[in-house]
Amino acid sequence: MKEIPLLSEISEEGRETISLPNDIEFSPYKELPKELLRENLPLPQISEVEIVRHFTNLSLRNFGVDLGFYPLGSCTMKYNPKINEDLANLPGFTKLHPYTPEDLSQGALQIIYELEKLLCNITGMDRFTFQPSAGAHGELTGLLIIKAYLKDKGENRNTVLVPDSAHGTNPASAAMAGFKTLEIPSDERGLVDPNILKNYVNEDTAVLMLTNPNTLGLFEKDIEKIADIIHQKGALLYYDGANLNGIMGYARPGDMGFDVIHLNLHKTFSTPHGGGGPGAGPVGVKSFLTPYLPKPVVDFNGEKYYLNFNIPKSIGRVRSFYGNFSVILKAYIYIRLMGEEGLKKTTEMAVLNANYLKEKLKAIFYLPYPTLCKHEFVLSCKKQKEKGVKTIDIAKRILDFGIHAPTIYFPLIVEEALMIEPTETETKYTLDNFVSILEEINKEIEENIEIIKTAPHNTPIKRLDETLAAKNLKVKWE
Ligand SMILES: Cc1ncc(COP(=O)(O)O)c(C=O)c1O
Repeated sequence: MKEIPLLSEISEEGRETISLPNDIEFSPYKELPKELLRENLPLPQISEVEIVRHFTNLSLRNFGVDLGFYPLGSCTMKYNPKINEDLANLPGFTKLHPYTPEDLSQGALQIIYELEKLLCNITGMDRFTFQPSAGAHGELTGLLIIKAYLKDKGENRNTVLVPDSAHGTNPASAAMAGFKTLEIPSDERGLVDPNILKNYVNEDTAVLMLTNPNTLGLFEKDIEKIADIIHQKGALLYYDGANLNGIMGYARPGDMGFDVIHLNLHKTFSTPHGGGGPGAGPVGVKSFLTPYLPKPVVDFNGEKYYLNFNIPKSIGRVRSFYGNFSVILKAYIYIRLMGEEGLKKTTEMAVLNANYLKEKLKAIFYLPYPTLCKHEFVLSCKKQKEKGVKTIDIAKRILDFGIHAPTIYFPLIVEEALMIEPTETETKYTLDNFVSILEEINKEIEENIEIIKTAPHNTPIKRLDETLAAKNLKVKWE
């Protein structure tokens, strides 16, 4: 693939992007104070068309849902309708400064207020905070709320239980909130077994963090028994709601017995996950925990919406202002446009697509949990590994076909894991095409194994030493 030169490499003395007539009254140089102007500012000198081509070419090297299939398990990289972006881009929203007084930001406050009501309805919780900026941030916030509650009750519970299938952020958040973590082994169904769980719950247990459907895409069938065990011992139940898209409209964490939940608006509700963009991990609680919510929350006094700071036992702020407003706004637009029936249909399609692919792909890969899944499923490339290619090789080869690789090596309990989440927005045509690509790659193992082991061949960058890149960050061009 052709190299894209740096702007400094194509720069030529005297070439300009804009030229203003000499007699124009306004000159940026005249307007700016002298002390802010630099004598020597070696910026690239290039024409407008060169700039446009440079950035357009760079953008085409980025992969996104708008370019192709993105079955990245646990990340819900679905297509989000452009109308949501258009509406969220209205100047009334984008030009609203966070310091705008309440009286002049009634519309924005109303949206936060109404979204809270909608999410309470969808999840069965009593109140939400929108401050957390991501799922992991929501986990930390939820655990701090639980900690404040336990302290208030004079209880010294210090342990968080986390199943071995959980997302890595769960134990990390527990540690950040100052708890010890204890891992619960999944049973042969890939689920939490109440009989195993019982042995781990005692007077030290503060909370069990559970994802449902879990990261294997499986519904924790014994959730009611699990909730009883936890509550009978005086502990609380935390719902990692990053996978809500597997049950939305059909089952509610609040009804399952969860006391605190977080949602990933940037997965389920119309903002893409990943890519380092903004996210929102609102935290919902049952009413007995509302006194500990971060402040302020948005309330309505019958006449106007206002920021309510009167929460004496609040854990305080966990983020500036009201959270990532544009993500909150897109979630609101998405839910209002979809309506109750639309959200149910979304779940149905996500589950149907995942099961369709699972049934097709189990002919190629080992399927460790051969049962009905929800929105995603996990395969194992252990058969392929015996023949000389690892999951990473297969993932890299998939890139050559213009498809983003599935999540690999997660969850940790599946050897050579290949975790696939097709999402509800993909057609049968796309899914069938993906199956035929994986069939082709599987055939290559017998016929031309080197092409897989040396993949990718069609991407601008080949295999990176990601560990080295992470440890030896170079953030500036030299
Ligand atoms: C199950 C689960 N929990 C927690 C998270 C963490 O969310 P975030 O990446 O927004 O911090 C994720 C991320 O996708 C997840 O899949």
